[in-house]
Amino acid sequence: MAAEDLEALIDDADFQLKRIDGGEVDSDLLRGRAVATLFFEPSTRTRISFERAATLLGAHVMTFDPGNSSMSKGESTRDTVLTLAAMGPDVLVVRHRSVGLPAFAARWSSLPVVNAGDGRGEHPTQALADALTLRRHFGGLSGLRMGIVGDVANSRVARSLLWALPTLGVEVTLIGPSGLLPDRGPWGAQATSDFDSALPELDAVYMLRMQAERGSGSAVPPGSGYAKRFSMDERRMGILGPDAVIMHPGPINRGVEISSVVADSPRSLILRQVGNGVAVRMAVLARAAGAP
Ligand code: NCD
Repeated sequence: MAAEDLEALIDDADFQLKRIDGGEVDSDLLRGRAVATLFFEPSTRTRISFERAATLLGAHVMTFDPGNSSMSKGESTRDTVLTLAAMGPDVLVVRHRSVGLPAFAARWSSLPVVNAGDGRGEHPTQALADALTLRRHFGGLSGLRMGIVGDVANSRVARSLLWALPTLGVEVTLIGPSGLLPDRGPWGAQATSDFDSALPELDAVYMLRMQAERGSGSAVPPGSGYAKRFSMDERRMGILGPDAVIMHPGPINRGVEISSVVADSPRSLILRQVGNGVAVRMAVLARAAGAP
């Protein structure tokens, strides 16, 4: 996506956020439409914020819960997508552990599909929520320096941030043990394993969870000192510049990649990222459903 398209989407989300903050909640943009959320992988904030966003736009929400579905009777993912599509939603929101599954769902169903996270692939609405959060906090994005820290190799959030942020003028540094950094600095981002030395230069530190379910286990054996080397704690917060902020896509593991003091400190934007996610998903759903 070109910078001006990304900025237009973030502008739409910013507009929705101002409406929500002003107490002007209900919108008719998707009145009479339906949004189906198909989360084949667990989710708290992403699924519920898509559902909240759809409701705020006036749409009906069709929720699919794999644990209580006919998948337990052997129905395939493709047949599940076709079944939901046959009930007439205008948009599908899809999360799946396999990279590329949302794109397949779009081919199978001929409906607009929003990717809500595919394996180690991408998580575009999270990156947009993060860009909106940074832009609101700093008043602009160009020239900011962000460090993305930890399990970069297994993170779809990091991959989407690496598409979006440099396009918007943010300089990204990847920070982590060599086993969890991509082989070659992808998309031109610089990489280091020296967290402490990188800290004073950063405006934002973006922490990642160890994503064992996506394969990080073998790269960082237990007892390898990972938590000590790459967690964000009070000491490290003290090395940051006075205006620097801490971010995390959630879910956080307190005492592993981030300490409680840091997560709950005034520098933490974690809950603002969650709130801004609703506005971003409103902007994305409105476009996907072809709202006027
Ligand atoms: C992330 C995800 O599911 O990719 N969470 C989220 O959607 N905000 C990050 C993670 O799983 O650690």
